[in-house]
Amino acid sequence: MNKTAKEIRQAFLDFFASKGHQIVPSAPIVVKNDPTLMFTNAGMNQFKDLFLGEAPIKYPRVADTQRCLRVSGKHNDLEEVGIDTYHHTMFEMLGNWSFGDYFKKEAIEWSWELLTDVLKLDKERLYVSVFEGDEKEGLPMDTEAYNYWKALVPESRILKGSKKDNFWEMGDTGPCGPCSEIHFDNRTDEERAKVDGASLVNADDPQVIEIWNNVFMEFNRLKDGSLKKLPAQHVDTGMGFERLVRVIQAKTSNYDTDVFIPLIDFIAKSSAVNYNSNATPTDSDWGQAVAMRVMADHIRAISFAIADGQLPSNNKAGYVIRRILRRAVRYAYQYLGFKEPFLNKLVPILAAQFKGVFDELITQQDFVQKVILEEENSFLRTLENGINRFEKYISENKGEKINGAFAFELYDTYGFPIDLTELMAREKGLSVDMDGFNAELQKQKERSRAATAIDAGDWVVVNDGEEVDFVGYDATEAKSRILKYRQVKAKGVEQYQLVLDVTPFYAESGGQVGDRGILTGDGEEVIINDTKKENGLIIHFTDQLPKNLESEFLARVDLHSRTLTENNHSATHLLHAALKSVLGEHVNQKGSLVNEDVLRFDFSHFAKVTEEELSKIEAIVNQKVRANIPLKEERNVPYQKALDSGVTALFGEKYGDYVRVITFDDHYSKELCGGTHVKATGQIGFFKIVSESAVAAGVRRIEAITADKAEEYIVAQTRLLGTVKELLKNPKDVTRSLETLLEENNKLKKEIEKTILERAAALKDRLKENAKIIDGVRFIAAEVNLPNTDAIKNLAYQVKDIVDNLFLVLASNIDGKPNLTVMISENLVQEKGLNAGTIVRELAKEIQGGGGGQPFFATAGGKNPEGIASALAKAESFLK
Ligand code: ALA
Repeated sequence: MNKTAKEIRQAFLDFFASKGHQIVPSAPIVVKNDPTLMFTNAGMNQFKDLFLGEAPIKYPRVADTQRCLRVSGKHNDLEEVGIDTYHHTMFEMLGNWSFGDYFKKEAIEWSWELLTDVLKLDKERLYVSVFEGDEKEGLPMDTEAYNYWKALVPESRILKGSKKDNFWEMGDTGPCGPCSEIHFDNRTDEERAKVDGASLVNADDPQVIEIWNNVFMEFNRLKDGSLKKLPAQHVDTGMGFERLVRVIQAKTSNYDTDVFIPLIDFIAKSSAVNYNSNATPTDSDWGQAVAMRVMADHIRAISFAIADGQLPSNNKAGYVIRRILRRAVRYAYQYLGFKEPFLNKLVPILAAQFKGVFDELITQQDFVQKVILEEENSFLRTLENGINRFEKYISENKGEKINGAFAFELYDTYGFPIDLTELMAREKGLSVDMDGFNAELQKQKERSRAATAIDAGDWVVVNDGEEVDFVGYDATEAKSRILKYRQVKAKGVEQYQLVLDVTPFYAESGGQVGDRGILTGDGEEVIINDTKKENGLIIHFTDQLPKNLESEFLARVDLHSRTLTENNHSATHLLHAALKSVLGEHVNQKGSLVNEDVLRFDFSHFAKVTEEELSKIEAIVNQKVRANIPLKEERNVPYQKALDSGVTALFGEKYGDYVRVITFDDHYSKELCGGTHVKATGQIGFFKIVSESAVAAGVRRIEAITADKAEEYIVAQTRLLGTVKELLKNPKDVTRSLETLLEENNKLKKEIEKTILERAAALKDRLKENAKIIDGVRFIAAEVNLPNTDAIKNLAYQVKDIVDNLFLVLASNIDGKPNLTVMISENLVQEKGLNAGTIVRELAKEIQGGGGGQPFFATAGGKNPEGIASALAKAESFLK
């Protein structure tokens, strides 16, 4: 069949739309509000709360294409990518879902209908699998699925699979259930006649691959490992889009389809290397083929992660992205000779490919490209430094093996994948101590696990109730009951998390910190330290559980800190609009933090914001503050309607069908926002920018303060200026007066330096004349009057230049602090074993001090100037 990738994607969506499914957009690839997950790794992630019964079901049938990343955690394919032809870092997962609506029968029948009737895949090449059951889990075989399949497929092609392949779980905990996979046998007829395809299913044969998984969600895996039946039964399916395209287009590699060809072609052309899709590991062009696949694949993961708001960085999700990028740069460098940044040039090709599917990339193309370029530049530098470090190691360490700790240093500090180190070692006829390397790696893993592990217990239900009602937009206190609680342990600290039926507490999101406050009930007060969101839940953190959990509580938000936070949040909106108007429409929010002390706003912009621009921005915001613009808050606005009205939406943010719009003047600031705000801008009082800096390539940061904090800041600054003026004796023009002072000061400094030099020159000659010859050594010991130790050091060196066989001891008293300097000619150090360091330490005892230095020059300081004379007298004893 001659369908393009685009047509195949559309055929899937159209098919499920015709079966009553609502087509929804992909969620961002970067996950927020779920501590168990960094990146979206399955289409079902955005529906997790629906499966768990923690959020209301809007559409019982849904379908989409979801961009997914399997590079960390339970599902991690990174090391396979590029080596084989059917795993990817980022891939599209086509999925259809039933939330408590249809179940196994329809899911199975429709998947068959789509693949064989609509997409015309050869039925003879399809294999399906069902769950065989698991005694330990107490789960029976999925005979229901088996029987539905039997009506469609000969039994010889229905396989029974174990828990490993046929029981799907999102992570260590969370929704799960038995599943039924569909595999495609893509081998030649000849090969198929020789070996039965059934024996190759789930056996890592690159031509017999899984294309679709239908999961029948029935359970929630709890922390203690047990399975809990879900409130309803659901269907969750996921089809690997790139694999589907490949089998429909009858290719033997995903990279030979039109999903990857434009990228591969550009890489091949730019490197002047032919792409050999059929290369095997023993072929000379194998490394080049892998490199091209790695680059074509990785650029997708990197670009979409950045477009969805995850910049490469040194920790957590940012580090995962940085590592993927480095893996691609390393392959490009090593196998294709790209010594200059190249990956970023793939971004426009990719953005064009995804136009109309995931427009996030096309709207942020320049930004994404710029970020990647900077990362490439900095990694290429590191790569070069690492290679130098490697060369140095080789020249300094003889032997056959590269030490494991050193290989780990290259890996950890320079980002060298271990196979690069091995390759470089092989080129020198050496090998790497892999056991040593793995031991270091293991140690590091344990260190980081210990540092980040959050151990959450299972929820304990206290009161029944489903919906959690957030009332914090209208009230700061409410009557509440505890629905459930659990204990969590992070970095060794134990805490409790509470879920309330009704809460005025704002949970940290959109940059605004979570509310603090107290719960009062049954004569007890429980302090809430923080509030966060986890999936759909609002979680209140406390160190101590109330004694009577069943009591009714009055939940009260700390009003003072909430108000200050609101000032900063509303000011952030005013700032965002001002930035766009002064710097341009390319300004997009890239991060934000709003708490009671400060607001921090990160945004895309390619140059330093000038003083003049900052003043303009500040002036606009303050003018809007003084205009006392009332807040317009609209809840439940249809998303499209909000967009049409010109609202500012953020990239990488998952918005529902209905959104909340915060407006300060219809013609000024209109943002999609879930945060809390001032009733009118006048409450902000005053807005003051305190810093502007760079956070990453193409991203600037502004920090600012408002209200009391801004006032205190101005008062302090004014007071400081007052003190300065007073010290200057209240001149008319402070700046001029300071400049004059500095000029004078410089002039005086120069004059003093000159005088000191003259004095030292005179001293030098006098010292030479007074040298005493003892045993062939010219011994000089004297107290000199010079204003600082630099001048004394200088003098010592000058004397050394004009006196041979010198043993010089100088003492001086600078502002009551005695010090000693010893200088000895090098030949005396050698011949007589004299050591200035040892001598100065011995002499320093006389002035109650200590010191040290080199054998020919050393200095000491002390506390007792009275001891100078005896120190000088003692010096001579070293020559006897
Ligand atoms: N959630 C299932 C998977 O990712 C469909 O395979």
